[in-house]
Amino acid sequence: MKLALAPIQGMTIAHYRNLYADIFGSIDKYYAPFIATTNPIKASTSLFRDILPESNSSTINIVPQLLSNNGSDFRSFASTIVNMGYKEINWNIGCPYPMVTKKKKGSGILPYPDMIKEFLDEVCLDKSYNLTVKMRLGLNNLDEGIKAIELLNDYPLKGVIIHGRTGIQKYEGSVDLDSFEVLYSSCKHEITYNGDIFSYADFKNISERFPTINNFMLGRGALRDPFLASTIKGISIPTVEKIVKLRDFHDGIYKHYKNILSGDKHLCDKMKEFWMYMSFHIDPSGKFIKKVKKCRTNKAYLDITNQIFDSMLKELYLTR
Ligand SMILES: Cc1cc2nc3c(=O)[nH]c(=O)nc-3n(C[C@H](O)[C@H](O)[C@H](O)COP(=O)(O)O)c2cc1C
Repeated sequence: MKLALAPIQGMTIAHYRNLYADIFGSIDKYYAPFIATTNPIKASTSLFRDILPESNSSTINIVPQLLSNNGSDFRSFASTIVNMGYKEINWNIGCPYPMVTKKKKGSGILPYPDMIKEFLDEVCLDKSYNLTVKMRLGLNNLDEGIKAIELLNDYPLKGVIIHGRTGIQKYEGSVDLDSFEVLYSSCKHEITYNGDIFSYADFKNISERFPTINNFMLGRGALRDPFLASTIKGISIPTVEKIVKLRDFHDGIYKHYKNILSGDKHLCDKMKEFWMYMSFHIDPSGKFIKKVKKCRTNKAYLDITNQIFDSMLKELYLTR
C-alpha cells in the first residue's frame, strides 16, 4: 500500500514537503501544487521555483503537477521539468475553483471530451516521462467523469487519481463513494483514491470497501494530523515524541517564512493558515487558535505558540 501527500497550493511547498518527510515520514510520494502553463515565450523561470532540484530533498519522491488545457504549452513545460530530472508529471483536471474552471481548465475541462482528446493526442507524443492524471467525478455530474475515463483508457497513462466529488461541489458535502466506484471500475489505469481521509477509521472504511485499491492520497487529513500516514502504516509514536516533532515542524516552517516574508503581519497571516490545519487535533477546543488569529506581531505570535506546546507537554505529564 502506497500513500501520497496531496498537493495543497500555498501549504505543501518545497520547504513544507522536505520538513514533513524528514520529521514525520511514512509518505511514499509528494505531489507538488500545480504550475499553470502559459505560452512558453512568456514563461518565467520563477514558475518552476518550487520544484527546483536544489530546493527539494533528493531522498523524497516528488511529482510536479501542471494545470493546462493546451497540449503544446504542456509539452514545453514538461520538457523543462524532465530536464530537471523528474520522471512523472501529473495533469490537474480536478481543480474546482471557478476562476480556473471557467477557462476550461482543472475540472472545467471535464465536460469537453474533444478538448481532452486533442490535449492527450498532443501530450502523449512525448514518451520521456510518465503522465498521470488527477481528476474529479466530473465538473457538474458523473456522466462527464465517465466520458473522461473512457477517453483516458485509450492513452498510455501511468495512473489516475480520483477525488470523489464533482467540481461544482468544491469541498462541500461528502465524497460520493458510489460514483467513485463507477469510475474506478471502468478505469483501466492504476487508481489512487483521494478524498476525506481524516482519520484511521476513514482510511479503514474506504480500504475495506475497495480492497483492491493500493494507493491512497491524503490531503487535509495529513495536514491536520501529520501522524495520520504513520498511523495508517501501523507505526506507533510515543506522545512526547509527537509533541517534539510537531514543535520542530512548526519551528522549521516558521523559520522559513520569517526568512522570506517581510513584516510581522505577512508572517502572522501565513502562520494562521498553518494553524488552521494543525489546530484540529492540537487545539480541539479552539482556545489557542482564537488567540493565534488575533496576533499582529511576531512576539505575540511566538508567545501563543510557546503556550500551545508548553500546555501540550504539561497536559501529557499531568495525565501520566
Ligand atoms: C487550499 C487547497 C489547495 C489545493 N491545491 C491543489 C493543487 O495545487 N493541485 C491539486 O491537484 N489539488 C489541490 N487541492 C486538492 C487536494 O490535493 C485534494 O485533492 C483535496 O484536498 C481532497 O483531498 P482531502 O479530502 O484528502 O483533503 C487543493 C486543496 C485545497 C483545500
